[in-house]
Amino acid sequence: MIILAIDTSCDDTSAAVVTDTVVLSNVISSQTELHNTWGGVVPIIAKRAHQERIDAVISKALQLAKVPIQSIEVVAVTYGPGLAIALEVGVKKGKELALQLRKPLIAVNHMEGHLYSVFAQTKGKKLARPQFPVLALLVSGKHTELVLMKEHGKFEILGATLDDAVGEAFDKVARLLGLGYPGGAVLSQYAKQGNLNAYSLTIPLHQRKDLDFSYSGIKTAMARLVKQITMNEERSLTRKEISDLAASFQKVAIQHLLERTKRALQMVEVKSLIVGGGVSANLHLRKELRKLCRQHHVSIYFPSKKTLCMDNAAMIGVAAWYKAQRKEFVQDISALERNPRASIDVQITM
Ligand code: KG4
Ligand code: ZN
Repeated sequence: MIILAIDTSCDDTSAAVVTDTVVLSNVISSQTELHNTWGGVVPIIAKRAHQERIDAVISKALQLAKVPIQSIEVVAVTYGPGLAIALEVGVKKGKELALQLRKPLIAVNHMEGHLYSVFAQTKGKKLARPQFPVLALLVSGKHTELVLMKEHGKFEILGATLDDAVGEAFDKVARLLGLGYPGGAVLSQYAKQGNLNAYSLTIPLHQRKDLDFSYSGIKTAMARLVKQITMNEERSLTRKEISDLAASFQKVAIQHLLERTKRALQMVEVKSLIVGGGVSANLHLRKELRKLCRQHHVSIYFPSKKTLCMDNAAMIGVAAWYKAQRKEFVQDISALERNPRASIDVQITM
């Protein structure tokens, strides 16, 4: 089944062609350079950039996949969660294409896409076959969730963040350290050179016996530390201080993810752990989660490439293929609407 997939949920315009779970192309046009001077994503700028770029991104995806548009059998599009006016651009394009090509449309939840990114087969890679029940740890710029998946397409949220998402915390702390936006990946580079015990930070919700997350406290503690060190910004941070602050922050941010994941593994019997979302590219997190899974005799699955960790349309196409197996097609294409607050455990009925 040849699927053309589209994702415009935030600040990346992406289109991909997949055949079943095999990625033929995955084009991502990043808008970082348009937003970074503002220190965050500006929705109206994102919308305009999606509108300007979407046709070229789709053409490039078809061209790289060497698939003529007439060969597309299914169109898939992200309907939420994300920025309303950004999502709208992709949804409109997906509907137009499905109607024009007279092909079925599949509406995919963006977080379901991140979860299914581990099933995306890039060149030479075998299909991941995690045994059920699966626990998924979804870590992105806007979400931090533990999801139980008893079978394909059945999701139960076990825990989620009460305030900021982990990726958001990385970005906010990176900005505090003067590392630009989005700074998660840069911060982790600095952390490599730093002393992770230089500053002591408290692990959030340490005593709470649930599976929720909280990142706003660490962010505030970091802001306080930076103020102290720079004597209310009388001077700037040295490179060593930046590295030590980055390492100390990363340590506690990841410890929090590990604690909650460990608790989930103790509470529910699962055979596999799937990790998805932008923060799943973090090598320190990968190493620690691998260790945890070995201790619990659980197999672990990550997206096989960096481009599959970040926002991309290939993961939407792969999730759509599994939805197609369950015949989850949009019934009334023209009635499909974006849902900025869509939740992975509520399946769309349209
Ligand atoms: O999944 P994603 O591309 O977009 C959303 O759906 O939000 O995630 C982006 C997030 C950003 O917050 C970015 O800073 C973070 O993922 N990120 C990282 C790393 N690479 C990207 N955070 C920590 N370590 C990394 N290596
Ligand atoms: Zn995402």
